[in-house]
Amino acid sequence: MLETEARPASLASSETRDGIAVITIANPPVNALSFKTSAALLAEFEAADADPAIKAIVITGANGFFSGGADINDFLSVPEPGTKTVRDVVAALEKSNKTIVAAIDGPALGGGLETALACDYRIATSKSKVGLPEILLGIIPGAGGTQRIPRLLATKNPLNYGGIQMALQFMLQGKPKDAIPAKGMGILDEIVEGDVVARAVELAKEKAGTKLRISQYKILVPPPLVALAHGMVPPEDKGGYAAHKLIDAMEAASDLEYKFGIAREARLFDELVRSAPAQAAMHIFFAERELGKVPGISADVKPKEIASAAVLGAGTMGTGIAMVFASAGIPVKVIDVNAEAVERGKKQVADTYASQVKKGRMKPEKAQALTDAVTFVTDYNDIKDVDLVVEAVFESMAVKKEVFAKLDATVKKDAILASNTSTLDIAEIASATSRPDKVLGLHFFAPANIMQLLEVVRAKDTSDETVVTGMSLAKKLKKKGVLSGNAFGFIGNRMLFDYIREATFLLEEGATPKQVDDAIKNFGFPMGPFAMSDLSGIDVFYKISQEAPKQPYRSSEIAHRLYEAGRYGQKTMSGFFKYSEEDKRTPIEDPVANEIIAKERERIGVKPRTITDEEIINRCLFALVNQGAELLGTGVALRPGDEDIAWIFGYGFPWFEGGPMHWADTVGVKKIYDQILAWQKDLGPHWQPAPRLKEIAEKNGTFGFRPTIGATN
Ligand code: 3HC
Repeated sequence: MLETEARPASLASSETRDGIAVITIANPPVNALSFKTSAALLAEFEAADADPAIKAIVITGANGFFSGGADINDFLSVPEPGTKTVRDVVAALEKSNKTIVAAIDGPALGGGLETALACDYRIATSKSKVGLPEILLGIIPGAGGTQRIPRLLATKNPLNYGGIQMALQFMLQGKPKDAIPAKGMGILDEIVEGDVVARAVELAKEKAGTKLRISQYKILVPPPLVALAHGMVPPEDKGGYAAHKLIDAMEAASDLEYKFGIAREARLFDELVRSAPAQAAMHIFFAERELGKVPGISADVKPKEIASAAVLGAGTMGTGIAMVFASAGIPVKVIDVNAEAVERGKKQVADTYASQVKKGRMKPEKAQALTDAVTFVTDYNDIKDVDLVVEAVFESMAVKKEVFAKLDATVKKDAILASNTSTLDIAEIASATSRPDKVLGLHFFAPANIMQLLEVVRAKDTSDETVVTGMSLAKKLKKKGVLSGNAFGFIGNRMLFDYIREATFLLEEGATPKQVDDAIKNFGFPMGPFAMSDLSGIDVFYKISQEAPKQPYRSSEIAHRLYEAGRYGQKTMSGFFKYSEEDKRTPIEDPVANEIIAKERERIGVKPRTITDEEIINRCLFALVNQGAELLGTGVALRPGDEDIAWIFGYGFPWFEGGPMHWADTVGVKKIYDQILAWQKDLGPHWQPAPRLKEIAEKNGTFGFRPTIGATN
């Protein structure tokens, strides 16, 4: 290898500085260690390792990343024999007798960190992050991570098995750590300000000849800790499939020699990567990354900068939305003339941030700064210069049109005006302004500062620039921004209405709210449709049903009977369930509600029958899928993956099933379609298969996984 001469640019390249080989991974955008990139890195490494003129080796990454890990696309294909993977890279590093330094500038995740862990030293810039996020993909680290992280952390933090607990947490949460805490844990050896590669070359020269093989550290993972960990993660069939295997793999680091531990890890990894939860999680990973891609809008259309915002209405929702902006670093003014609402809003802000401090999640100074970033005003003139206003006032078209006209007259002409309505027509709201191109829906979910879904609603006159700004804002606010057409209920609630309607029909036919909710919870939702109705308010659903466009098919009137009985849900301590004074949130089966349901059943002349849990799940979820297909056919939703994201992050659909549309693919679209046709005969004409569902079923097709699968370096 020639001094300072760079090899031709490829997925990995090498140069020599002062007898030290510097190998750079370069697979934009995140240096994913695809099969080809792993092969290129391995070739560069083997060449340097075999070259007697090379004293030590530095591995680094281009593009502001060390590496985002193994290429997830590769997990969806079956590798050809002889294909090189991160495991081969890690095995070569382990075998080498040369000193190896990882020079990290940017994220080192998954297989990226595993490569760094197979080096002797890891140094990083302070903006770097390290993590083993595999668990979030339904898999475990598969290139030595489960063997090296416990060995490293337990050795660096021996007191009271602190390092073992750290390792468990690090891998089970999958959340990357910033460089400084990672150095505190012992994952990184040094934080470098400035040129990390130059420093790595210095260190490599200084340490040349030394080897620090983490794989050889001896540790003990105490059995009670293992049992405790198994007890703390969800059951295998409820999202814990990978977590239990992760704990098993980590236990091997204590019980077995490295060479056997790594073999066990590999076997567990290979089993997981083909599992249904992993396929679901990978679908979600890619669906999330598709969200911001809006077909038909040119990449030249850039988002407007939103440097300041206002929220109209100091209610719980408005104040929650304001906190979302403040937490994202956007100063925000809440406007409301009701002094009482303002006082409550101020308290909500202060209490929310204070509770973060109490839980140890935020420093008091940060909480104070965020509290100060939300100011309360009463005069429209005080918000005239903001870049964006989100209206969160009473859900009435007349009221919304009045405030939009007022906002239009006061707020600067190029500001964007958004409505947080959950059902009303954005185009009609926009018609009250002289700037319908700058009006859109930003539908936050309650509690706004916690729920991750944000529906961005495009009406007929909303400009491309406003849409792009809405989508980019969602990202800045750390929300999953799902673009929806301007249809009643948008995507999430529109699907919800059909789900609840079917759940209520099941009550008419003989099920109880508890039976339905238990079946749905057993499927994996955190709560069933009736506990959810009680939480949202039966009065709210009742009012929406009054304002909804006329439906072609009948709905059950059970909720009306509960409404008439003053049972609005949690707020009145009674709805489909009852609630106790001590615990106002946990639903308790209520004979009174069951009696109201029985009477309604009698009134409409239905004889109760026994309903199985399987029927409950299929009826509720096929209703979701059918409406999802309808929204795709009418263009309200762009992609099935968008609907999956909406339902996972807005309504608690279990991630390990991949969202309703992904789940439909696993069940079989044709099977769902045939069942809907059968129900149409047995249960009534409201079971109308959506044209898109029919189209896919007739081809025996699927809603589809990611279209770009396989397109990888
Ligand atoms: N494999 C394949 N593609 C990846 C990828 C990966 N590991 N990581 C990111 N990408 C792609 C994204 O799909 C996206 O592609 P697109 O532009 O076509 O949509 C592009 O890279 C940019 O990604 P982001 O939009 O997410 O960019 P950000 O800068 O916001 O975030 C990131 C970068 C922090 C690296 C983030 O993408 C991320 O968290 N990636 C996943 C990291 C991960 O889970 N790694 C573990 C992989 S599994 C593994 O390593 C197994 C091993 O143990 C054997």
